[in-house]
Amino acid sequence: MSFKSALKETAARIDALLDETLELKAAPARRVVEAMRYASLGQGKRLRPFFVVESGRIFDVDDQPALRTGAALECVHCFSLVHADLPAMDDDLRRGKPTCHIAFDEATAILAGDGLLTFAFEILGDVKTHSDAQVRAQLVLELAAAAGHAGMVGGQMLDLEAEKTQTHDRSDIEAIQNLKTGALFRFALEAGVTLAKAGTGDRLAMRTYADRVGLAFQIADDILDIESTPEQLGKATQKDADAGKATFIDLLGLDGAKARARTLVDEACEALEPYGASAGNLKDAARFIIERKN
Ligand code: IPE
Ligand code: IPE
Ligand code: MG
Repeated sequence: MSFKSALKETAARIDALLDETLELKAAPARRVVEAMRYASLGQGKRLRPFFVVESGRIFDVDDQPALRTGAALECVHCFSLVHADLPAMDDDLRRGKPTCHIAFDEATAILAGDGLLTFAFEILGDVKTHSDAQVRAQLVLELAAAAGHAGMVGGQMLDLEAEKTQTHDRSDIEAIQNLKTGALFRFALEAGVTLAKAGTGDRLAMRTYADRVGLAFQIADDILDIESTPEQLGKATQKDADAGKATFIDLLGLDGAKARARTLVDEACEALEPYGASAGNLKDAARFIIERKN
């Protein structure tokens, strides 16, 4: 199956899984579930779950554990977007729709974010995700670490601080982006290794790919912020310069940033050489990440 069809198929399956598990019917508090569904169903590239599924395929993981792990990760990602869009951080368009706090209200958006973050761990802790309790515990631990203060949340904090201090030092920017975006990518790519109980060599290869692709992804996000339009991107553009955000573009210029992203993609693909054709979709995904239009 081609990369594009595989991405589409995984996106549809993740949507179906979330639609089924985030049920409104029995919910004691309908409004927060409506907001959680609003923020997680429908649009969205579903790249992170795609990485979980594809890393799982390399290591012969069954579909259900990989899809459930991908859905949990997508919940954390959606939570991060809902909270990152709140007025304190500020956005009013996301995935082509009004952001959650605009469609509902601020308090509901905060709760919907809280609900999505905790729901991720409910999914992972369920026996349906993996029959081995030790594997489930490891997934929980790894996702908590990737999402938390030493992962995505920490990266968001440093990103906000860098706006204030006007930090534009290369190693600082790389460190921020490695946490802000990289940590969830690393969880995604290592999930196949965890689910299959594969070895450290495999973990290292997947981590190298994830680190390179994570950085390339955030460089592309920064470039799109400059070169794209809200209609095409589904979110506001020209935000980073307005916010004084530290990006690779300040550091390397637009052409330099594009060249760096290409090098990162080459290095990412190289790390997957040992896996031959089974890593084909991941190699295509790395190239897609820097060529995408949204
Ligand atoms: C947006 O991520 C947030 C960043 C880390 C830059 P995506 O571009 O993957 O967003 P969706 O999930 O497709 O909306
Ligand atoms: C960070 O990326 C998103 C999160 C880690 C939550 P940006 O700050 O670039 O977010 P966008 O561009 O608004 O999606
Ligand atoms: Mg951005």
